[in-house]
Amino acid sequence: MESIIEFKDVSKEFEGNVVLKDLNFSVKKGEIFVLVGPSGSGKTTSLKMINGLIEPTDGNLYFKNKRIKDYNIQKLRWQIGYVLQQIALFPTMSVKENIEVIPDMLGWDKERRNKRVDELLKEVDMEPEQFRDRMPSELSGGQQQRIGIIRALASEPDIVLMDEPFSALDPISRASLQDLVLELHQKLGNTIIFVTHNMKEAMKIGSRIAVMHEGKLIQCDTPEEIQKNPANRFVEEFFDETTDEVYTQTLEVLYNGGFYQRTITDFNLQSLTMDTSLSEVFDLLAEKEAFIIERDGKPIGLINRSDVFRFLSQEG
Ligand SMILES: Nc1ncnc2c1ncn2[C@@H]1O[C@H](COP(=O)(O)OP(=O)(O)O)[C@@H](O)[C@H]1O
Ligand SMILES: [Mg+2]
Repeated sequence: MESIIEFKDVSKEFEGNVVLKDLNFSVKKGEIFVLVGPSGSGKTTSLKMINGLIEPTDGNLYFKNKRIKDYNIQKLRWQIGYVLQQIALFPTMSVKENIEVIPDMLGWDKERRNKRVDELLKEVDMEPEQFRDRMPSELSGGQQQRIGIIRALASEPDIVLMDEPFSALDPISRASLQDLVLELHQKLGNTIIFVTHNMKEAMKIGSRIAVMHEGKLIQCDTPEEIQKNPANRFVEEFFDETTDEVYTQTLEVLYNGGFYQRTITDFNLQSLTMDTSLSEVFDLLAEKEAFIIERDGKPIGLINRSDVFRFLSQEG
């Protein structure tokens, strides 16, 4: 299949820190390509290079066989939809105005814009009459992110970039939006590049998955192949991780039950508190072996990953 995006020996340094190292991969036209990896592995940086928000320090990126840096960056961005984690609708604009931002910039006339807005709202089961003129604050988080998705699709872009679009949502909204993305993709057949730190989400959504770790591409293949033949221990262990909700519940029980309290000898370890956000807990446990648990600003115990797994398997 024809490739639409290509990374060739792409590296990136920020102030002397290497955050991406010799990335080589291509995204095929019409696939859902998932970049998955723990927090800090370089997913967002890679994604931002595709629409020219960040330039590589070394190597080149290609869009339709032409170097990204040789495009008029404004015009390029009109061909690329972008959905962010923070839902990021314009708060003072109605649903309709949010959806038609790009079509408007592209000069679509009013009738064509109205038609498109209604068509897209129906596509995500939001009755146009009812929702068109609402403000973002009058929608639930899940509904707002539906609008975020159709806003990115409004001008029929060649590619849609999605950066952890569902990680701030509750599990039910998240599952239904994953289904929605799959459904829209089947209908529209556009190319989607989807970033997540959640391997389960990657497996559900991806046509192909690129696993990243510390700025390197560890493995790039179909979900089936990655599951069957993980390239190394990192990939294998990444599968074993469970969802953030489960971790948080676990921490709660560990706190309240006084489980696994140990003498803390290493004060360089990172701390977790009950205020640590769900996705942060998940990220941290994916990356580090052990943590200090704090309550009321005082360290109360030490927990490591095997504690969590042991605890989860006891819970059955
Ligand atoms: N503008 C920047 N300046 C300096 N360091 C950055 C900048 N953007 C990202 N980084 C660093 O690059 C690494 C990769 O970040 P990022 O691509 O955001 O990872 P991910 O999206 O996988 O969590 C991190 O260590 C991050 O701190
Ligand atoms: Mg990121």
